[in-house]
Amino acid sequence: MAIRKIRKIGDDILRKECKAVKAATPRIKQLVEDMFETMYEANGVGLAAPQVGVLKQIVVIDVEDGNQYVLINPEILEESGSQTGEEGCLSLPGKHGMVTRPNYVKVRAFDENMQQYELEGEELLARAICHECAHLHGGLFIDLVEGELMDNGSEEE
Ligand code: NI
Repeated sequence: MAIRKIRKIGDDILRKECKAVKAATPRIKQLVEDMFETMYEANGVGLAAPQVGVLKQIVVIDVEDGNQYVLINPEILEESGSQTGEEGCLSLPGKHGMVTRPNYVKVRAFDENMQQYELEGEELLARAICHECAHLHGGLFIDLVEGELMDNGSEEE
């Protein structure tokens, strides 16, 4: 396991389209482990591969619901409802803003063993799924911020 460097806003890689993962190679499994370690070290609830400089469709999420979600090649199947709340990103440390997201999403993805599954999320999990999946297509929460981007001191999300 290793902590990887988190790419910050201004790094072009954050705006690029990620490629689909074809197989669960040892390298992919190592990357997933490193992404969790990097996310926990930074006190985040989600991290996408481009944030550690890898243009592959891989997301890890832990919203402290007792699960560690790995979403490889995720595809959002359904969205409903809406929630507006504060959102931040490890690639924009110390900043947050108000973002409206669906309150419910259903996503289809592969896990780290390339087993396909579906995941439903509400509230924070739905927000995290949308935020992280957007990273795979060059999207950042600042694209959706309503009003001002705000400073949050040392708090990071
Ligand atoms: Ni982010």
